Formats: sequence, C-alpha cells, structure tokens
Amino acid sequence: MTGRLQDKQLILGVCGGIAAYKSVQLLRLMTQQGARVRVVMTRHAGEFVAPLTFEALSGEPVCIDLFDRTDRDASIRHIDWAQEADAAVIAPATANLVAKLANGTADDALSTFLLAMICPVLVCPSMNTHMYQHPSVQRNLDRLKSDGHMVLEPGAGQLACGTVGPGRLPEPEQILDRLISRLTPKDLAGKRVLVTAGPTREFIDPVRFISNPSSGKMGFAVAAAAEHRGAEVTLVTGPTRLSDPAGIQTIRVVSAREMAGAVFDHFEAADIIIKTAAVSDYSPRETADHKIKKGAEEMSLALQKNIDILRTLGGRKRPNQFLAGFAAETRDLRENACKKLVEKNLDMIVGNLVGNPDSGFSADTNRVTLFFPNREKEPLEIMDKASVAHRILDRIMERLS
Ligand code: CTP
Repeated sequence: MTGRLQDKQLILGVCGGIAAYKSVQLLRLMTQQGARVRVVMTRHAGEFVAPLTFEALSGEPVCIDLFDRTDRDASIRHIDWAQEADAAVIAPATANLVAKLANGTADDALSTFLLAMICPVLVCPSMNTHMYQHPSVQRNLDRLKSDGHMVLEPGAGQLACGTVGPGRLPEPEQILDRLISRLTPKDLAGKRVLVTAGPTREFIDPVRFISNPSSGKMGFAVAAAAEHRGAEVTLVTGPTRLSDPAGIQTIRVVSAREMAGAVFDHFEAADIIIKTAAVSDYSPRETADHKIKKGAEEMSLALQKNIDILRTLGGRKRPNQFLAGFAAETRDLRENACKKLVEKNLDMIVGNLVGNPDSGFSADTNRVTLFFPNREKEPLEIMDKASVAHRILDRIMERLS
C-alpha cells in the first residue's frame, strides 16, 4: 500500500509546549504514510519529550544543536536537510518560535533551519489562550501568512493550563490531513464535487430508527481526496462519528428525505457527483410522536418507499456532469452493479461486496470493482479507503478529459 506521503522528505519541528507529546503521534502518522521525517527540536522541547523517542520513531538523527561538538558536520548537514525537504511542519509552534520566524531571527537550530527552508511550512501554533490572542502573537501569525506560510488554527476548549478558549494543538490526524492537502497536486482545481456519505436514519418513534451500519468512512475519504486535489467540495452526510473535514462544506442530515433535499440543492452547481451514502430504501409510513409501548406478541410496521436520489439525479444529469454511484452487494456483484449503472444512468458505479471484515461498511480498507457504461470493469486490490477514493477520482478525471 503506498502512503500519501511516499518519497517525501519532511521536517518536523517541535517546540517546548505541553502539546509536544502529540508530535510523537504525528511523526508516526507521517512515517506510516511513507515519508522520511527528520525531527528538529528546541532545547525546551527536550524537557517534554526525549529526543531519543523521535530518533527511534523516525530512524533519523534528531537535531537540537547546530554546534554539536560530537558531530562537527552537523550545521552543514542540517542546512542540507532544510534545502532537500518537501515540507516542514512545526507542531507545536510556541509564541516564541512564531515571533522568531515572523522576524527572521535565527538563534537556535530550529529557527535557523526555518530560515534556510525553501519549501512550504505548516505552522501549528499551540499556547495559552491569552498568549494566542495577544496582539503581538496575532500580528506575527498574520506576518507568517503573508510570507506564504500555512498557519493551522488551533482548536478551542479547556487547555492544559486551565484556561478555556483557542490554543489547543489540533489532533495529529488533522495536522496530517492539512499537510497531505498542501503536498497533493491540484488536478481537480476549478471542479465542484458533491459527495454523499454515511447511513440515513428513518425514525419509527422518538427513540428508534431504521438504519444500516455505514460508518461514512468511504464517503469522507472521497470528499477529503477531492479537497486535497483542489476541488471545491460539498459533503452531504448522514449521522456518523466522523468530524467535519477541513476545507469542505459539510451538511449534516438525518433521513433520506433530508439527504435528497440537500443533494438536489447542490446538484446543479456540481461537475462531479459521487453518491457513497447508504440510503435507506424505505421509511415508516408514520413516525409516532411518543415511544411505542410493547404490547402484542407480533407487530408489523408499514413502510413506504423513499425517493431514489441517485436515480433522480441520473434523470436530470447534464452531459458535462459526471455521476458516480456505489453498489453495496452481498452477492452477484457484477450483475447487480451493472443493473444499477444502467437503470440510474450513471457514468461509473463502484461495486462493493460488503460483509467481509476488511471491506465494506466500518472497515478502514475496501475492496471494490469499478464498472463503466462501455462494459469495462476494473477490480482494485484491497487498499485503504483514501487510496480507493483517489483511484475513483483518477478514473473520473481520465474520463472527463
Ligand atoms: N441510492 C440513492 N437513494 C436511495 C437508494 C440508493 O441515492 N433511496 C444510491 C446510493 O447512494 C448508491 C446507489 O444508489 O450510490 C446504490 O445504492 P444501493 O443501496 O446499493 O442500491 P439500491 O438502489 O438501494 O438497490 P437495492 O437496495 O435493491 O440493492
């Protein structure tokens, strides 16, 4: 499986802040995506996390001191690193480091490194809320942005120091996502992509509903991949545990009817529509206002058919729009998927055999086959959902061009 940072040379800068522990996990995520990562840390960072931890996890020497007497070539070699790097991430970035980078100060290894860099730098400030909101810190952050650096907004909440407000380092997964986005070629720039994800819920009474085990992971992966490649993305999602992805307009819905409304609102403007959602085909004819009490030994529910959103879109599609659906099947994949491809007037359908632990609903990986109207089919090997998403987009872009 190739990672999204395969063959990339990255620098992880770590400052002395309580959030330095999160940079250990960030380093792991970066290396899992195939990157070669070299850590440059401040002396204070070493008070929070031992350099040996980063050294063991990166498999590379860690740089703290440009004038290390045991390593006479350190300063030259480290400047080479700075020039070879594809990108740098500073997480956490303290107020001090932000000030140094904004003003061109180079008085330790990390700040010197940063001035020698010619690649994109993602700065992830993390500090006490009052420090973060201080006009001088905000001025320095604005300066960094105008200098062309990316600054990731810190999260808000209760901080380790007890204050409540912005200043928390975003989760390592979120930092990784922004880094990948920055490094991904923008072949979808100018395209508007509409994605649906997750299950829908059809309420029987206030405490019960009909649904399915869709986790939303596949649809969120498609939306993220499209955003990374420069598209303007709208994601309409049923209930999931996943948080709103960065850079994407996310619309949360519950029922199939609500999903239909949101999708129809955004369909006209979209160039590419990818319907990953597992929509409930039926909903209760009536939803009880209060919890239904148990009574007779047997009960039956009257269900009514929901609108088939994808089929409706297939009827409205313009020639320059690309419409893709998913087919979740437990058998006869080809036959069932191709039937839906034709009946719903799609340009592609992603056939997905569900029910295996490594593919389908809640898994992090998926095994799918792509089917096209010219009877071509492309079975993909098992891969993580982000890779499946990119393959889908690759094929769409080939066909659009
Ligand atoms: N779909 C939809 N609206 C529905 C049902 C399905 O838009 N009411 C879309 C799904 O988002 C998916 C495709 O249609 O992209 C196929 O969904 P699937 O559940 O596999 O098939 P169905 O058409 O519902 O047929 P069946 O349940 O009989 O297999």
